[in-house]
Amino acid sequence: MAHRISVIAGDGIGPEVTREALGVLRAAAEIHEFEIDVTEHPYGTDHYLATGEKLPDEALASMAEGDAILLGAIGDPRVETGMLERAIIAGIRFGLDLYVNLRPIKLYAEHLCPLKGVTPDQVDLVVVRENTEDAYAGLGGILKKGTPDEVAIQEMIYTRKGVERVVRYAMDLAVKRDGKKRVTLVDKANAIRAQDIWTRVFAEVGAEYPQIERDHAYVDACCMWLIKNPEWFDVAVTTNLFGDIITDLGAMIQGGMGIAASGNIHPGRVSMFEPIHGSAPKYAGRNSANPLAAISAVSMMLDHLGETEAASQVEGAIAKLLRTGRIASGKAGEQKTTEIGQLVLDELRAS
Ligand code: IPM
Ligand code: MN
Repeated sequence: MAHRISVIAGDGIGPEVTREALGVLRAAAEIHEFEIDVTEHPYGTDHYLATGEKLPDEALASMAEGDAILLGAIGDPRVETGMLERAIIAGIRFGLDLYVNLRPIKLYAEHLCPLKGVTPDQVDLVVVRENTEDAYAGLGGILKKGTPDEVAIQEMIYTRKGVERVVRYAMDLAVKRDGKKRVTLVDKANAIRAQDIWTRVFAEVGAEYPQIERDHAYVDACCMWLIKNPEWFDVAVTTNLFGDIITDLGAMIQGGMGIAASGNIHPGRVSMFEPIHGSAPKYAGRNSANPLAAISAVSMMLDHLGETEAASQVEGAIAKLLRTGRIASGKAGEQKTTEIGQLVLDELRAS
């Protein structure tokens, strides 16, 4: 049966990088002989400005019927900050209960890393970012806006169920991975005492996994360790907000925002895959955005769909092109978007 893929190319560089990613998906389907059934959705800023529609319930319901979603990027300065990001990105994450935001940080070639002397064997970790709670849950607001008495509140919420399921996912991932069998909990429980729930749940769930070493870092120290000793990490599990922040740092040590991809996952259910970069309006329409992160999101999606050979072939092609310098870097503006897409296609057909 065909894999049913919903696609939201979105805003800014989204459509350009998504086009290349879809080309790679189609080539992978041809090479590995599986069927795909792609439905493109128009949601994003242009569509909102033309129709007033953000993400209709029927659209979410139809995506929920499929197997996976590929998203380019959302965000455009023509509309209120964060409005469509919340409606579309968070709308899908929360609406489909995609409780894991899986963000691998892997260095494919030494020259891509801005840190002196750091080699690929030292940067190979996965951040498991909780994806349905925390300050992102939308509990908050602004009172007496614009007055001297203004009050702004945004609650960080953590539920036992929410923390437990994501910690369990991280433990299971560490068991499966051919890594150091270590899970690092990243939090700020010394200052944010509500995060004590993470400390306790991590210890309780972790006790069921005697083969996995439990490690801990406060998020500020984690930023330091990621630079100083990235090789210490195998799987890191953390809150939604901290996971957002540390994975931008992670993207830089793996070679740039143009490389880093993510999966918004509910195991066994429809899940969404996207680059971790945003819509980068200043690069939009110039054929200069780097599509590798979107292509890498396709590799993660293929893995989720059970097309593991295709997934590793796509990842292998990206790694090889970066190692040999045929793709110069994970940055924007060094090679054309379409040229990078074509290089990946050629490599897939040759390998
Ligand atoms: C990400 C993005 C989003 C987030 C924004 C666009 C809401 O930064 O996916 O990392 O904060 O989760
Ligand atoms: Mn982010």
